[in-house]
Amino acid sequence: MSQFPEGFLWGGATAANQLEGGYQEGGRGLSIADALPGGKDRFKIVSQPDFDWTIDEDKYNYPNHLGIDFYHHYKEDIALFAEMGFKCYRFSIAWSRIFPNGDEAQPNEAGLQFYDHVIDECLAQHIEPVITISHYELPLNLAKRYGGWKNHYLIEFYERFARTILTRYADKVKYWMTFNEINSAAQFPVMGQGLVPSNGGNDKRNVFQAWHNQFVASAKAVKIAHSLNKNIQVGCMILYATSYSYDANPVNQLANLHHNQDFNFFCADVQVRGEYPAYTNRLLAEYDLRFDDLETTDGELALLKEYPVDYIGFSYYMSTANETTGQTTDTVAGNLMGGVKNPFLKASEWGWQIDPTGLRIALNELYDRYQKPLFVVENGLGAVDKPDKNFHVDDDYRIDYLKQHIQAMAGAIKDGVDLMGYTPWGCIDLVSASTGEMSKRYGFIYVDLDDQGNGSLARYPKKSFYWYQAVIKNNGLEKPKPKDDQAKETIIKPLV
Ligand code: BG6
Repeated sequence: MSQFPEGFLWGGATAANQLEGGYQEGGRGLSIADALPGGKDRFKIVSQPDFDWTIDEDKYNYPNHLGIDFYHHYKEDIALFAEMGFKCYRFSIAWSRIFPNGDEAQPNEAGLQFYDHVIDECLAQHIEPVITISHYELPLNLAKRYGGWKNHYLIEFYERFARTILTRYADKVKYWMTFNEINSAAQFPVMGQGLVPSNGGNDKRNVFQAWHNQFVASAKAVKIAHSLNKNIQVGCMILYATSYSYDANPVNQLANLHHNQDFNFFCADVQVRGEYPAYTNRLLAEYDLRFDDLETTDGELALLKEYPVDYIGFSYYMSTANETTGQTTDTVAGNLMGGVKNPFLKASEWGWQIDPTGLRIALNELYDRYQKPLFVVENGLGAVDKPDKNFHVDDDYRIDYLKQHIQAMAGAIKDGVDLMGYTPWGCIDLVSASTGEMSKRYGFIYVDLDDQGNGSLARYPKKSFYWYQAVIKNNGLEKPKPKDDQAKETIIKPLV
């Protein structure tokens, strides 16, 4: 018997800004992702005090403009997902394709038609669409003219956007998420909230205000969705990085507990439980703020209470460790945040600490706290792939990473956790969010494109493609792997 429940949603995940391209086609407007330069200095550049979202093509390259050109390849790509046996495909709808400037009264029909095709293609291939309404791709105008999510007007604009797509796809799409990694703004409010230093991103009051506005917008989306179709399930989506105390020192343990509240739980507490947690004022006080400093209304707080999310989607790549007593200064990188080096763990080429057991812990921690279904909507290993002359990639390192994380999920299910599905990140290679690199690859499908935008854009299944196909077929890991030799034979020619 499989360790995974029948109907478990195996699939993969992407985001519009990182794969679609077609950034000026079909009436699409610019999004904040279009203004992020490619390369390892991406975050450094956008953190400069004078960064004002200007796109300067003489100075930088902008890999999100092309993505992997899913806009023109979506049919072939979805066919490859179907070949792997995907039960679901998580993607986002680019807000600026639907409302090019974010503040229009009427949607852009050509943008909607693109998603009609994508969704219909998924359904024709028996793949359940899982849609993120907003994934790091705020219309640029809303950041420049309105100052990002700290502005109350964005609630209304988001509501219009969410209502448009929820209404259009209410009978076709059951699973939705309101904001990708909503809590990531704690570390870096650029992508999630459209806040940079020049529009107030360094002021924590703005970050908390932006969150409040997003919580309200999220509750409104839940309300709309449920009124359209009772079967629709709307989730929150958080960045979860299991966090350990460096040692048994109670001081570090307490620091770790607070870190967990502040980073891993704060947003989910509001979105799942429908109210601000008891520690809110302790957290705000760390920035010399009080809850009263935020603009909130009784009506909004009542809305949060009435429309909590139905499930918890989360990304999990790595864990962190907390040390506050000066024993070590050895720090590591991570998914928008690092921490001190955990001596028990190895790290990826980008310095993210690999920790499959941490996923089992995350699933238990979240389920203990909320008792709502969980959905691992991102997980994976960003690595440099080295294709041979036939573009074949033997990515055993990726298979190994994913296998260990699937084992961890099976363990959590045995622990009693209600887990809906698993959509590994970047199921097809795409542009990295934090560094704008193509060379940081996560996919089961290799895309012939480099960091400078050179390449044929041809798609080639990697070894992991056939491995994951077998996992899905067997509803888990138990049964024998496909024969690697057979896999190699099928993959020597490009598919497009
Ligand atoms: C998550 C994001 O933080 O991690 C994705 O939701 C992102 O958009 C993914 O791509 C992996 O991060 P990166 O920086 O390696 O692309």
